[in-house]
Amino acid sequence: MNAGGSARLRALSDDLAGYFADPSRYQDPFPMYRELREIEPVHWCERYDSWVITGYPEAVELLKHSGVLREPSAEAQFRHLGRRDIDAADTVAAVDIFLAAVINRDPPHHTRLRKLVSRSFSARAIESWRPRIDAIVDQLVGKVEAKSEFDLLRELAYPLPQQVICELLGVPLEDVDAITGHMGDSRIMTVRGAEHERSTPEDLRLLTQRQLVRQVEYFRAAIAERRRAPRADLITSLTQIEEEGDRLSMDELIGTVIILIGAGHETTANLVANGMLALLRNPDQWALLKAEPSLMPGAIEEILRHETPSRGQSRVARTPIEIGGKRIETGQQVMPLLIAANRDPRVFDDPERFDITRTPNPHITFTAGIHYCLGAVLAKAEAASMLSAICTRLDDLRLAVDEVRWRPSYVRGLESLPVARELVGAR
Ligand code: HEM
Repeated sequence: MNAGGSARLRALSDDLAGYFADPSRYQDPFPMYRELREIEPVHWCERYDSWVITGYPEAVELLKHSGVLREPSAEAQFRHLGRRDIDAADTVAAVDIFLAAVINRDPPHHTRLRKLVSRSFSARAIESWRPRIDAIVDQLVGKVEAKSEFDLLRELAYPLPQQVICELLGVPLEDVDAITGHMGDSRIMTVRGAEHERSTPEDLRLLTQRQLVRQVEYFRAAIAERRRAPRADLITSLTQIEEEGDRLSMDELIGTVIILIGAGHETTANLVANGMLALLRNPDQWALLKAEPSLMPGAIEEILRHETPSRGQSRVARTPIEIGGKRIETGQQVMPLLIAANRDPRVFDDPERFDITRTPNPHITFTAGIHYCLGAVLAKAEAASMLSAICTRLDDLRLAVDEVRWRPSYVRGLESLPVARELVGAR
């Protein structure tokens, strides 16, 4: 690379680090991702203290590599919420439970936990949940049907995954609403330890700690209750799973439930809202989907690719590894940016185009390798149910604003999605 190229790479890389500190600064990050990928699909980001991968083949290779670990990166990401030297014992214990959950573990613990948890997420189980998802969608759409203007994010996209997971787990929505909140906040999710001290305000840290402790208390009681008196819900089924005499311990059950609530909420809400925004901004695709409901599964895949609701995942090298011609040393952090890899022209023709008939569409929004999202089928079922209802019952929807704003969050989501309809009575 010549001097001009490396100066440009440095500038872009600094922008990227700034982006993680404050994603609201960059309403459209895709030109930055594209240029970074063109210059170096795997680059060392000085300010971020991490390798960053923007290329698709390199991201997949990394995610499937046996030489990378999740535990040290999860520890760096979340330990600041409950530090043994300064925080109360119940807070540290709550963070320990969170860090011991499947998404944050490496083999062999991950292998064991995943085997047990995935028993509750079988294709048959998810199929049996569809009528309940449809009923929740029906109710939510019913509430906005008579409105000429509403915020699709707040009224449809956000409540959907929260209501679905509460219904499946068998816990009241109001209870969960009161104790969940801030784990997705970009100021908490910043990856490297030192960055937390700068970017996580103390009040946010304390609030998140309190919520995590309350979640642990709440679900400990709910699980104990299900053990005494089993019900027809997901918490009960998790308590009953047994695999060759092995079961989830109380702390593992609590961690699993907390992850299930957190992992699918903002991501699925963004899938619906980002997807509707893409459809409304591409009227030909919106018209095509309304005319051809059978295109829905492909449309969901394209939304997942083009409007990726997650950004990236972090790993730490266990041994020196080589990816995309770069040597990653033991202990160094690596972050594949799924959102950038999903627009790599080496894999996707005309990647900036939003095309609901795109095939094949091997996006890595749910990652690749051992941590592949356990809720992928559920998230797609929720989004398909909601978008189908919108296509039929709110088919005249249009954007009510010229500009939308993206939220400063670790995942890619909107601040709001104001939409409007021409109601017959209002004409
Ligand atoms: C559009 C919605 C969703 C997106 C974009 C998404 C994305 C992801 C990603 C990227 C990972 C991998 C993390 C890593 O590699 O470190 C993951 C893992 C996971 N997701 Fe999702 N997710 C979504 C919905 C859900 C839902 C609805 C649930 C469950 C209710 C869920 C549960 C999980 C679990 C349990 C894991 C951990 C799997 C493991 O570590 O083996 N996700 N998800």
